[in-house]
Amino acid sequence: MSSYKTKKTPGNTTWFEHDRFGMFIHWGLYSMAARHEWIKNMECISEEHYDLYFKHFNPDLYDPKAWARCAKAAGMKYAVLTTKHHEGFCMFDSKYTDYKCTNTPAGRDLVKEYVDAFRSEGIRIGFYYSLIDWHHPDFTIDRLHPRRNDPDAQKLNEGRDMKRYAKYMRDQVTELLTNYGKIDILWFDFSYPDEDSQPIWKKGKGKDDWEAEELIKTARSIQPEIIIDNRTTIEQDLWTPEQYQPMEWIRHKDTNELVTWEACQTFSGSWGYHRDEATWKSPRMLIDMLINTVCIGGNLLMNVGPTSRGYFDYRAEKALSAYADWMKYNSRSIYGCTMAEPEFTEPRGCRLTQSEDGSRLYIHLMEYPFGDVKMDNLADKIEYAQFLHDGSEVLFTTKKAYMNDGNTEATGKENTIIFQLPTVKPPVEVPVIEIFLK
Ligand code: GLC
Repeated sequence: MSSYKTKKTPGNTTWFEHDRFGMFIHWGLYSMAARHEWIKNMECISEEHYDLYFKHFNPDLYDPKAWARCAKAAGMKYAVLTTKHHEGFCMFDSKYTDYKCTNTPAGRDLVKEYVDAFRSEGIRIGFYYSLIDWHHPDFTIDRLHPRRNDPDAQKLNEGRDMKRYAKYMRDQVTELLTNYGKIDILWFDFSYPDEDSQPIWKKGKGKDDWEAEELIKTARSIQPEIIIDNRTTIEQDLWTPEQYQPMEWIRHKDTNELVTWEACQTFSGSWGYHRDEATWKSPRMLIDMLINTVCIGGNLLMNVGPTSRGYFDYRAEKALSAYADWMKYNSRSIYGCTMAEPEFTEPRGCRLTQSEDGSRLYIHLMEYPFGDVKMDNLADKIEYAQFLHDGSEVLFTTKKAYMNDGNTEATGKENTIIFQLPTVKPPVEVPVIEIFLK
């Protein structure tokens, strides 16, 4: 058994730490602007102009079954969809607002169709829900709000009541967790408290504004096992480093315990569909990010931003197929795997994972070496080795038997194993050696 235990939290993270890989989906009215999901904030877009998106939102090619098949092929085991992003637009049929998809040309509950489609492919269901809301009439104008620079911004705040907004969130979370069956993840986003900022009326918002304690209590009373992230700033189940790759397993800042964490990442720089953004990651980088996450005990939530017509564009499809190609044969080094036990040190240019039950070790050959790869502290533990992608035997030997020039310098320490590799790298982005331990 793995010796690594994560800090116990209120929700059920067992399945999550096994499944390792999920799909984030950012989809909303901003997909029509197609130039970042924060566009209303970035360009201080007027309500009149933003209403045009509402008026014309028509995802006529939305086929969530196709999305779910894509996610499944890519090896993603759970998904998290934006039910409401910062713009405030609801992708579900809420009875607490008119600002929802059913009142646009879309004319139907998009969340419901997502839930049905993904669930029927065996993918677990998560909801992203924005704490920020740039449309709700009670959400006060602050330093992030699109109306922050309006000459009458401060005046617009008169009569706005965050208490009413907090109640609205509780009502909507109740709807989301009541009307769609079992929900596995609730992904709140995000808090930005800054008590000292000037002018004070523009200051950010945090857990007290959200009445986060009440909000979480509401969620747990309906779905006690649900995984909730920490972005209300009330600590729950999930630490969520965003757009960077941690180098070590994340630890609790006070107790130093290992925690359950999930890196969230994009294929290119934006979460929402961005027509003109060009920093798309290479297939190789995408695979590396998944391995680099699991080898330090984390999950990866990789984002897709569908077009406003409701499909994954060719770039997103290509990126997803990079995962599909690799995961088809190599998922065994990801699912149910975690950081390798400390007795195993990574050979140069390699990353290790180990199955939770301890029985298998995986060497990911990130830099494919010439001839062989050597690993210390293994000779007395190894039973058999094969390439994971094709189940072909990888021969190995100990340093004595292998070296015939009398030079044992480079082979490492006692107990070293030397795996003999083909000169030509096997035709997979990152080949993996699967080791059956004694
Ligand atoms: C950030 C952004 C947001 C995105 C989220 C995903 O907090 O505000 O646009 O949804 O990251 O992690």
